[in-house]
Amino acid sequence: MALVYRALKRKSVVIVLICLVALCYYLIGGRQTSQIPKGLTRNGTLPTDKMSLSTNLTKYMRSLDRSPQNTTQNEDTRSWLERTHWESKIDYHMYHYLINPKDKCNSNGLVVDISGNLTLLVLVKSAPGNAELRDAIRNTYMQGAIKYNVSARILFLLGFQAHGEVHQTDIVKEAETNGDIIQEDFEDSYHNLTIKVIMGIKWAMTFCGNSHFVMLTDDDIMFDILTLVEDLSKAYPKHHSGFVLGEATYNAIPFRDPNGYLKKFYTPKTLYPQARYPTYPQGYGYIISRDVVPRVFQASKEIPPPVPWEDVYMGALLQKARISITDKLPWYRERHPVKTATPNLLVPHNDYFMIQLSSAKMKTVWDAIQSAFIINANNSVH
Ligand SMILES: *[C@@H]1O[C@H](CO)[C@@H](O)[C@H](O)[C@H]1NC(C)=O
Ligand SMILES: *[C@@H]1O[C@H](CO)[C@@H](O)[C@H](O)[C@H]1NC(C)=O
Ligand SMILES: *[C@@H]1O[C@H](CO)[C@@H](O)[C@H](O)[C@H]1NC(C)=O
Ligand SMILES: *[C@@H]1O[C@H](CO)[C@@H](O)[C@H](O)[C@H]1NC(C)=O
Ligand SMILES: *[C@@H]1O[C@H](CO)[C@@H](O)[C@H](O)[C@H]1NC(C)=O
Ligand SMILES: *[C@@H]1O[C@H](CO)[C@@H](O)[C@H](O)[C@H]1NC(C)=O
Ligand SMILES: *[C@@H]1O[C@H](CO)[C@@H](O)[C@H](O)[C@H]1NC(C)=O
Repeated sequence: MALVYRALKRKSVVIVLICLVALCYYLIGGRQTSQIPKGLTRNGTLPTDKMSLSTNLTKYMRSLDRSPQNTTQNEDTRSWLERTHWESKIDYHMYHYLINPKDKCNSNGLVVDISGNLTLLVLVKSAPGNAELRDAIRNTYMQGAIKYNVSARILFLLGFQAHGEVHQTDIVKEAETNGDIIQEDFEDSYHNLTIKVIMGIKWAMTFCGNSHFVMLTDDDIMFDILTLVEDLSKAYPKHHSGFVLGEATYNAIPFRDPNGYLKKFYTPKTLYPQARYPTYPQGYGYIISRDVVPRVFQASKEIPPPVPWEDVYMGALLQKARISITDKLPWYRERHPVKTATPNLLVPHNDYFMIQLSSAKMKTVWDAIQSAFIINANNSVH
């Protein structure tokens, strides 16, 4: 009280205080209602090219506060947003390398062609905790590529896990032993896979410009690297530019049921209002030609991921870069119409890929791929 009394006596101080309060009110309260959000035009419409989903998201979050009557739907969306912390915004990819085997695409005594070029760079999206799957890959197609003199390099893409069961020292040790890990300092999480894909694209562009093709795949996939690289090396003079090979997915419908069978891919309507996704290549394995790499990287600086699903984002980037997808299965069948059945596999093998495998199953599948390759090689020799 005494303090206020004394201050009141000093009128000049009071005037200054009133002015400060008024200024604060203007800055915090008054301005907020009148200020035009960044990206909006004066009349409040969004210029279509600048329209960002995150602006919509913020708007939607506010509208939820105002209309709580539709509770089930609102709570599902809200909990999704709170759980994922995901936001649709452009990522300029300003991360740092924690581990970077940057000489990996040089010859290093491994196979490159006469001009120092490589046919395929394989980038495997892998979570830090999946050391067992990475070992399964090392013991199967990575060894196979060396054994059969395949012009390919295989590297794993990892983010950083600050709070996980995985210790960074173990990742560093694993990288030192095998020399096949690229790691950046963004948070490794399922909803950051779009960042991981761009990480791979950027690395390919910067450190592996001598590879004719780049493939992105997952760590629970087995594929016939022997046949694939052979097919690609025959194809590249013809399909050198604007080429993307993958399981093209047309008119896919976003999963709208937060409790459904595919709830992992639940996509709130407010996040992605359109009924269909752009045509996209299934994330388990797609191959892009060298010239497509920088075009995709450029597109990633122009459009944000509409959803966290990295393959859908790749579809959006390819659409932006005006590149169409060559469907993998017809492409395969055209090249191997009467391929000898792969022995010891439960399903007919008419593709390069087998998906969603355990590390034990990967070994079985690889043995089958390997023996089929030998049989086919011998058949074509005779
Ligand atoms: C709003 O302003 C933009 C330019 O600032 C103009 O292109 C657009 O036509 C205006 N829209 C309306 C509804 O007045
Ligand atoms: C943002 O919301 C408006 C309706 O509120 C919708 O017409 C528009 O398509 C949305 N923009 C994007 C990029 O989803
Ligand atoms: C509540 O959400 C459901 C599902 O999106 C929708 O069909 C329904 O029209 C909404 N009801 C109201 C009152 O907004
Ligand atoms: C391996 O492949 C390269 C290029 O395809 C070729 O030049 C070389 O002779 C091959 N080496 C062996 C041992 O087959
Ligand atoms: C993605 O990574 C960035 C950078 O590390 C981090 O700030 C963000 O929280 C992560 N997002 C998700 C959804 O994990
Ligand atoms: C090898 O790669 C370089 C670019 O790194 C390219 O200019 C050259 O044409 C390639 N050679 C062949 C035979 O494709
Ligand atoms: C294929 O040919 C190689 C050498 O020509 C031979 O060692 C191998 O046993 C043959 N494999 C099969 C499955 O016929």
